[in-house]
Amino acid sequence: MSYSLATVSYIGATILFILCLGGLSNQETARRGNLYGMIGMAIAVLATIFGPYVAGFGGMAWIIFAMLIGASIGLYAARKVQMTQMPELVALMHSMVGLAAMLVGFANYVDPIAASHLSGAAKTIHEIEIYVGILIGAVTFSGSVIAFGKLSGKISGNPLLLPGRHWMNLIGLLVVILFGWKFVQADSIGTGMAYLIVMTIIALAFGVHMVMAIGGADMPVVVSMLNSYSGWAAAATGFMLSNDLLIVTGALVGSSGAILSYIMCAAMNRHFISVIAGGFGTTGGTPVAVDGAQPAGEVTPILALETAELLRDAKNVIIIPGYGMAVAQAQHTVYEITRFLREKGVNVRFGIHPVAGRMPGHMNVLLAEAKVPYDIVLEMDELNEDFPKTDVAMVIGANDIVNPGAQDDPNSPIAGMPVLEAWKATTSIVMKRSMASGYAGVDNPLFYKENNRMLFGDAKKMLDEVLIALKA
Ligand code: TAP
Repeated sequence: MSYSLATVSYIGATILFILCLGGLSNQETARRGNLYGMIGMAIAVLATIFGPYVAGFGGMAWIIFAMLIGASIGLYAARKVQMTQMPELVALMHSMVGLAAMLVGFANYVDPIAASHLSGAAKTIHEIEIYVGILIGAVTFSGSVIAFGKLSGKISGNPLLLPGRHWMNLIGLLVVILFGWKFVQADSIGTGMAYLIVMTIIALAFGVHMVMAIGGADMPVVVSMLNSYSGWAAAATGFMLSNDLLIVTGALVGSSGAILSYIMCAAMNRHFISVIAGGFGTTGGTPVAVDGAQPAGEVTPILALETAELLRDAKNVIIIPGYGMAVAQAQHTVYEITRFLREKGVNVRFGIHPVAGRMPGHMNVLLAEAKVPYDIVLEMDELNEDFPKTDVAMVIGANDIVNPGAQDDPNSPIAGMPVLEAWKATTSIVMKRSMASGYAGVDNPLFYKENNRMLFGDAKKMLDEVLIALKA
């Protein structure tokens, strides 16, 4: 394949990636957006393998060999992973992008062919690309591995707040800048390599420190931030390899991830810098409980049969799904109940909190899978004012996102986070298995409100019972 054909293919792939992102911004066009992305990626991969960048048959054989290994692992992981483990898988994949950027950086530095081609300013620019690429890659790699640990529960969600942590970060940053300056001036690969290795160790430690210092409830911002970092790591790899498509694709992922982080920060009422600096909302407040907070009051349990009666008598119902709905895989029964109630003339709507579940858009994906109509799935801001006019607010496996403590208790780790005001409905029903706390590890005063009822049990099982009772 000639250079010009490869360039045209790359431009085509870039346009498809932009159309993909545009499509993903809306649920109704998301499927088409995904298709554009897949076609774009297929073109990009083919143009790279058969393009002029790969050195002969030997180079191609290596790429195909690597792709077979990568594709087999990807296929295995995609088939085996549960829907609830998706956020962890995504975090792990971000770490792979970071690791790749690091390895490409080191390989590029010791590559004798790349080094012999360049001199003067071009050499310095190339070395800066390598240094920055490895730096971003290392932070992305170690940060994502810790995020994986926190999301999968292998590492505690409590923020690790080391004394003088801001100073440590600042000193690390200064050393990285100083060593970067020395690195581009190094007169031998050996000396340059020493600076690179020290910087990599500092960057890895910073990635670990940054994510370890994040409190449970702030994890959504970190997830989207690492998504953004992985894009910039890919763009940096593109610079190192002089691959335009990788630069553009990386920049698209990096900037869309940055926008998502901004949206997440707005949703959590957090300042971006405070979240990155870590431990926001926890320093002066109550520490997050390790095993969840202790329940502090009496609750009123309810049976599935009584729940069905309340729903049947209601005119307006708002359903608030949370992480527990994903765990129970209850979305299909939720859809059946919704359809039944709508046929009986009940106005049923869904209230989606921006950080419900464990990844951005988690609830939207599940509800779309169950074929819940998009027009009744609303954002938190679109229906929060409607709770006082709502007969039943049905909370399905959600906890932190309906915690009134976020508004009333300035010492709460989730203080200031906007929440769905389920307690303002005539009756709220919370469906969960026990009195255990949610991801942020805080008790929920909603459970003890007079107009609240607790339907204890697995969400799928309880909703099946509610559906049977409704139809009876
Ligand atoms: P959570 O606050 O985590 O609460 C989920 C509740 O579901 C738990 O209290 C649990 O109680 C219940 N549950 C679990 N399995 C269940 C089952 N099979 N049947 C019924 N209930 C079940 O979830 P949320 O309200 O969706 O809030 C999300 C939290 O995750 C926020 O703190 C957010 O900051 C954090 N987070 C979000 C993201 C993104 S990007 N969305 C990423 C990382 C962290 P029981 O054990 O008693 O059943």
